[in-house]
Amino acid sequence: MASIELTEFSPKEEQILSIRFEVFVNEQGVDASLEIDGKDSECVHALAYEDGKPVGTGRLLPDSHIGRMAVLSEYRSRGIGTAILEALIEAAKNRGDSRIILASQTHAASFYERLGFGAVGTPFFEAGIEHVLMQLQLGE
Ligand SMILES: CC(C)(COP(=O)(O)OP(=O)(O)OC[C@H]1O[C@@H](n2cnc3c(N)ncnc32)[C@H](O)[C@@H]1OP(=O)(O)O)[C@@H](O)C(=O)NCCC(=O)NCCS
Repeated sequence: MASIELTEFSPKEEQILSIRFEVFVNEQGVDASLEIDGKDSECVHALAYEDGKPVGTGRLLPDSHIGRMAVLSEYRSRGIGTAILEALIEAAKNRGDSRIILASQTHAASFYERLGFGAVGTPFFEAGIEHVLMQLQLGE
C-alpha cells in the first residue's frame, strides 16, 4: 500500500520534478519549459511512496486548482492516483476551500469522476493535449 505525504515544494523538489518529467515530458511529450511555471512554491504537494520510492505526485494551488497529477507508468492502476487526489481534496477541505477545479486531460476524466468531479464546459487544448474543466463542490 502506498503512503502519501503532503509537503511544501522546496524539500521535495527533486523527487516531484523527476516524476513529472518522466510522465509529462518523456512519456507524453509535453515541452519541458511548460513544466516549470513558477507556481510550485505556492502549492501544497502530495508525494506517493511505494517501498520508500517516490512514484506519484500532484499539487493543490492557492486558488483551489489541483494539477500535475502523475504516477509512474509501472505503478498505475493500483489506487495510487486516487490516494494522491483524496489527500489533496482533504487538504483543500481542511483549509476551507468551497470547491476544487481542475483541467483534466480528456482521456483521464473518468479517473476524476470516480471521486465526484463533474465536467464543466467544452474541451480545450493545453500543451497540445485535449483537456476538460472539472469541478468538485466541497461542503454545502
Ligand atoms: C491519471 C493518473 C494520475 C492515474 O493514476 P493511477 O495511479 O493509475 O490511478 P488509480 O489506480 O487510482 O485509478 C486508475 C483508474 O482511473 C480510471 N481512468 C480512466 N481513464 C484513465 C486514464 N487515462 N489514465 C488513468 N486512469 C484512468 C480507470 O478507471 C482506472 O482504473 P483501471 O486502471 O482499472 O482501468 C496516471 O494514470 C497518470 O499519471 N497518467 C499520465 C499523466 C496524466 O494523464 N495525468 C493526468 C493529467 S489530467
